[in-house]
Amino acid sequence: MSELLKRFEGRVPKVAIVLGSSLGSFADAVKDAIRIPYGELVGFPVPKISGHAGEFVVGKVGGKEIAVLAGRAHAYESGNPAVMRPVIEALKAAGIETLILTNAAGSLNPKMRPGSIMMLTDHINQSGMNPLIGSHGDENFVSMTDAYDPKLQKALKAAARAEKLKLHQGVYVWYSGPSFETPAEIKMLRIVGGNAVGMSTVPETILARRFGLRVVALSVITNLAAGIEGASPSHEETKREGAKAAMRMKTLLIRFIKDLK
Ligand code: HPA
Repeated sequence: MSELLKRFEGRVPKVAIVLGSSLGSFADAVKDAIRIPYGELVGFPVPKISGHAGEFVVGKVGGKEIAVLAGRAHAYESGNPAVMRPVIEALKAAGIETLILTNAAGSLNPKMRPGSIMMLTDHINQSGMNPLIGSHGDENFVSMTDAYDPKLQKALKAAARAEKLKLHQGVYVWYSGPSFETPAEIKMLRIVGGNAVGMSTVPETILARRFGLRVVALSVITNLAAGIEGASPSHEETKREGAKAAMRMKTLLIRFIKDLK
């Protein structure tokens, strides 16, 4: 039995969710929760920035056992794009099959306003980094076609319909951060086909696909990206707007998990 599974006290979650900036309140929706600080789990990186808790929670949501990662480490904290690898590997070893990733992102489209929720249909890796660089073996040539599972995307759309929530869809661009983008960079990202920009998720998606997990991902749009209608994003705005949309995100996620086959 994996070290992580031993800590679950007999529970066997098949779904894990990573909570992005200011979505930590979702962890409060978990019933009969076991809470484990990352510091107690071998290889789990303790996040160093505000708005990210660093706690592993196992319990029931929508009647299903799930694992919640309240807080993620970002590549920009250390320069290591594989910082979440031990976490993804531990999830796989513990029997997790489906990974839900959430994040805060800036909108590249003035029609997708702050407070919107966007489902990722695809991504563009604009960071120059890849969490699999330095790994050896054929299994690292991972297909990124359908990286975001088409069946799970369909289920997410159904969950949004059932809850009467508007769900945007689009391409997420990973830009390393931690500085925000320049208005010129944002112009470029719009031209290359991005719909939202953020500093996370893509490395976890690559790692999760490498280890055979199904992935679905959601962005909370916290701001218009730099230069759009004169926007100048900040971490404070990200946290504030993320917290505002958290309730709707929670509603959507609970329904999605409840109905998940
Ligand atoms: N850019 C990058 N990351 C972000 C943004 C943004 O505008 N908003 C929230 N995370």
